[in-house]
Amino acid sequence: MEMNALHAVIVPYPAQGTINPLLNLAHLLSSRGVFITFINTEWSHRCMSKAADKDNDDHNSTSTFRFLSIPDGLPPDRGRLSNPAERVIAIENLGPVLEHHLRCGLPEGTPPITCIIAESFMSCTLQVANNMGVPRVIFWPMCAASSIAQCNSNLLLSRGHIPVKVEESKRADKVITCLPGNLPPLLPSDLCSFYRTTDTSDFYFQWFLRESQFQSKADYVLVNTFDELEAPQTVSALSCNGCPALAVGPVFLPNFLEGKDVSKQASLLEQDESCLKWLDTQQPESVIYVSFGSLAVLSNEQLEELAVGLEKSEHPFLWVLRMDIAGGTPATLPEGFEERTKDRGVIVKWAPQVKVLSHTSVGGFLTHCGWNSTLESMSMGIPMLGWPHFSDQFLDCRFCKDVWKIGIDLEGVDAGENVVVRREEIEKGVRRLMEGKEAEELRKRGMELKEATFKAAGENVVVRREEIEKGVRRLMEGKEAEELRKRSMELKEAAFKAVGEGGSSFLNLNRFIQDMMQLPNGEL
Ligand code: UDX
Repeated sequence: MEMNALHAVIVPYPAQGTINPLLNLAHLLSSRGVFITFINTEWSHRCMSKAADKDNDDHNSTSTFRFLSIPDGLPPDRGRLSNPAERVIAIENLGPVLEHHLRCGLPEGTPPITCIIAESFMSCTLQVANNMGVPRVIFWPMCAASSIAQCNSNLLLSRGHIPVKVEESKRADKVITCLPGNLPPLLPSDLCSFYRTTDTSDFYFQWFLRESQFQSKADYVLVNTFDELEAPQTVSALSCNGCPALAVGPVFLPNFLEGKDVSKQASLLEQDESCLKWLDTQQPESVIYVSFGSLAVLSNEQLEELAVGLEKSEHPFLWVLRMDIAGGTPATLPEGFEERTKDRGVIVKWAPQVKVLSHTSVGGFLTHCGWNSTLESMSMGIPMLGWPHFSDQFLDCRFCKDVWKIGIDLEGVDAGENVVVRREEIEKGVRRLMEGKEAEELRKRGMELKEATFKAAGENVVVRREEIEKGVRRLMEGKEAEELRKRSMELKEAAFKAVGEGGSSFLNLNRFIQDMMQLPNGEL
């Protein structure tokens, strides 16, 4: 190992939604010659190893890519997901243990650490980076708009925008225009759901507020978005002190295009690949994929509504029903549901989501709009029926609908208010997503965005003859042409920017590496 290699220490928050993008980023950097130390808590590492193929556990370190596990300070048998507040406190206090392992736990011959890339809620890394004299790079796993709102929580507090009063959350006279980054005006309901409370001493309210103070103290900022989706001007608003802030996403996409199954390697649960075989037997664009990420919990009453809504929609479905989807209690489905839908429905405990979304049989995604799921869906051109549950998911859902126009939501349902979404609403939503003109429009827009994301990831998309003919007709003939032209002009610019010499995100990541190489501390 060359002692002058760049060495990035990568520290995700120990949750699926941040391990995924950071492990993907780690692979992107590794393939550009950066030495990687990937930090997991012992709990995450155990889950990942358990979920991996028994004969092919790919969590063993190589000479240039090391996994390092550290204890999170909680007893090993303590439920991490069932005691989230306790875990938050433990992670906030992880700094000294992390520093100890970085100083004493790296094998001989490891190049000196160049930088610590920390997920945006790993405030404990600030002191570690300071003590070790290396820059701290903040990685935002949310879209830039959500990240800006989070980073500016204190501004929102001082202007009276948070805490959000539930009854005012949709009021047009309460729109938020004080945030930087040229964001579209935000509704109070777009803000992180943890700010919707009447009790400002609420644990999550205080936690998010506390973290925001550290999120402005970065030496470099990377965001899992791309310039054609959220403008560089928006992304750069995440630099609170003039440091660079760059869009480098979707980080999963270049790995996926290269055939690297990083999402499987990152998975905390075993992915059930049998559903891919079932998808092979389905008609193109016919299946609705249903999943709410790794954390959302649905009551049994809600699960019943969802099951019946899906059944009544009459579309084939692939539904991820996590073991812990109903919280502490076992999930129960309506009597006879599985038998009645066995010819057109499949339920799995955990799916290979990216592979599912890239399967030609999938035509829509009923999703909680977690940012990873949102990026994965738009990168595969799959329109979304958004059903946000918590955190940044509300903004993602609204932007998919109103800003990017690649999704719809469950109309008239304020899912944030602990209401049970009724079967009729679910049925209606699924039908709108899968059937008729609106569905067609959404799919078309989804395909356009898919192309933009592939280009941003540096992929040279070959446009086939059928596409060209169709494109020319759409551009030149009839009513739709006008609308198409307008949109095409916007996308043209995005495509030009993205294809240059490598895509925008590709170049941004190169720039990040170059900047790290030019650090003045002599170790490079
Ligand atoms: C959380 C937050 O909820 C989300 O809002 C935030 O932006 C990131 O962290 P999570 O709720 O788990 O994450 O959702 P999401 O961001 O969508 O991440 C879930 C990941 O798990 C995705 O990368 C998805 O591909 C993967 N997944 C999901 C699977 O591999 N299999 C599944 O069956 C379901």
